[in-house]
Amino acid sequence: MSRTSWFGSIRRKGFWNCEINESTEMLRVDIITIFPGFFREVFDYGIIRRARAAKLVTVEAHDLRAWTSDKHHMVDDRPFGGGDGMVLKAEPIFAAVESLAGASRREDFPEGRRVVLLSPQGRTFNQSLATEFAACQQLVLICGRYEGVDERVAETLVTDEVSIGDYVLSGGEPAAIVVVDAAIRLLPGALGSETSATTESFSDGLLDYPHYTRPTDFGGLQVPEVLLTGHHAEIARWRREAALAKTKRNRPDLLKG
Ligand code: ADE
Repeated sequence: MSRTSWFGSIRRKGFWNCEINESTEMLRVDIITIFPGFFREVFDYGIIRRARAAKLVTVEAHDLRAWTSDKHHMVDDRPFGGGDGMVLKAEPIFAAVESLAGASRREDFPEGRRVVLLSPQGRTFNQSLATEFAACQQLVLICGRYEGVDERVAETLVTDEVSIGDYVLSGGEPAAIVVVDAAIRLLPGALGSETSATTESFSDGLLDYPHYTRPTDFGGLQVPEVLLTGHHAEIARWRREAALAKTKRNRPDLLKG
């Protein structure tokens, strides 16, 4: 039985195999890495810990070496054509995905699977992609390493090649943590308040409005007066304007087009 409860004809643009769902069935996340120990504790805190405890999600890191067939458990090799560094081999990655997701061609994955290669050459991760990933039944994340990954993985195996930003990490592991965190907190029931995910940064194309808490006067720095009035309509207007001003200042690119 599928985890998803389908919304009839509604299909988000850019979806691959996944549709919007609002069920609370479990999301399964499998991470393929040569450093499974990297993930030992990172999902044991805060919202992610709670979501796991509430059985909204399972997260497992798998050692790529388990899918090697040679006695040295080789996961990388020299690049054809020469050049520096080593390239992650295709065979163990294809075998890992086949055993975890049930197929080794992107067009053959059962419904609700996304298989994602994390690499600096991917399309940039954002809130909309996080929402798509949160709507899946299974998310398989492949962490790239070294100088690169055999291109046949990107060409034929994965549904998505994703970068978390225009900088180069030493591997895809930190990127996998970012993607998993952003997706899990969007699962229905993961946040304390159901409205929190819809009022925060990016959910409406703007950055979040500024927040303040006690004291009202912190060494002469004041909380904006309107927030102390209890006047809901004025507070809402102030927040909209403050969010717009902050977006203009910090992220004018979000306001274009
Ligand atoms: N691996 C190395 N750099 C990366 C990036 N920016 N995003 C995702 N994976 C990466």
